[in-house]
Amino acid sequence: MKGIVLAGGNGTRLHPLTLSVSKQLMPIYDKPMIYYPLSTLIAAGIHEILIISTPKDLPLFERLLGDGSHWGCVFSYAEQNEPKGLAEAFIIGESFIGSSSVALVLGDNLFHGGKLAQQLAGLNKMDGGHIFAYQVKDPTRYGVVEFDANNRIISLEEKPNNPKSSYAVPGIYFYDNTVVQKARALQPSDRGELEITDINKRYLAEQKLHLSPLETGSAWLDTGTIESLMEASQYVQTLQSRQGVLVGSPEVAAYTSNAISLEQLLALADKLSHTPYGEAIKSLTK
Ligand code: DAU
Repeated sequence: MKGIVLAGGNGTRLHPLTLSVSKQLMPIYDKPMIYYPLSTLIAAGIHEILIISTPKDLPLFERLLGDGSHWGCVFSYAEQNEPKGLAEAFIIGESFIGSSSVALVLGDNLFHGGKLAQQLAGLNKMDGGHIFAYQVKDPTRYGVVEFDANNRIISLEEKPNNPKSSYAVPGIYFYDNTVVQKARALQPSDRGELEITDINKRYLAEQKLHLSPLETGSAWLDTGTIESLMEASQYVQTLQSRQGVLVGSPEVAAYTSNAISLEQLLALADKLSHTPYGEAIKSLTK
C-alpha cells in the first residue's frame, strides 16, 4: 500500500501565522505539524509516500523531509495548484499510485494511540474503502457518519447543519485502486471542491465502504483553528513530559515498522543530540 499526505490549502483560518509559511509546517510542540500524520503512515508500515502541497510550499517540504531514505522510506512530491478538494489528491497522485491501494492522510490531522498503528497496518490488503469514526462535540465541522451497532454505515454527510450522529470521519482514509477512477468521475460540490465524502459515498453505494471506530484510547486532533493548534501542542507536551514517550516521531515510527535498524535510529538521534528531541529518541532506545 502507498500513502499520500495532503498538505496544501491556504491556511486562511490561521492568518497571520500562515501568511508566509505553510500551515502544515507550523510547530506542534517540538515538531513540524506534518511529522504527525507522516509518522502515522510510517508506523502503519506505509513507506512509499507522496507529499502534495502548493507550488510555493512544496520546496520547503522537500527541504524538511528529503527523499525519505534516512527513515527507510521513499518520498516523492507533487504540486496542487489550487485547493480544489481532498479527492483531487488521487488525480494528482494517479501515476504514483499505479496499481496499488492507497492511504490518504491530511497534513493537519494528528493521531495518537497505543494500538492505532496495528489497527491501520491491518488494512494493507484493501477491497473497497475503509474510514474511521471518532466521537466529537461539534460534528457540524466535519464529515459525519451514521452507523449501526455492527459498524454498518447508514449515512454520510459533509458538514451537515443537523448531524445524524456525533461521529466525525477523521482525515485518514484507506482505498483500493478504484479510488482513482472514482475521483476522476467526481463533480465539484457547491463549495467548488472534489469532496472526499463523495468518494466515500460511491464506495458506500457499492456496499464496499467499511468503518471502524478509532481504537478506544486513541486520540484524534485536528489543528484547523488557533485554539486547536494550541491544544494539540499542549497534548503532545503533556504526554511527552509525563510518560517519556515521543508522539509523532518519524524516526521512531520508522524503527517500530522495521524501515530502519536500531543502529540507524541511534545514528539519527546522534545527529539531533543537542536537542531534547534527539535526547528523547536516545532514551527511548534504552
Ligand atoms: O479533518 C477531517 C475533515 O477533513 C473531514 O471530517 C471532512 O470530511 C473533510 O472534508 C475535511 O474537512 P475540512 O473542512 O477540515 O477540510 P479542509 O478544507 O480544512 O482541508 C483539510 C486539510 O487539507 C487542510 O490542511 C488543507 C488541506 N487541503 C485542503 C483542500 C480542500 C489541501 O491540501 N488541498 C485542498 O484542496
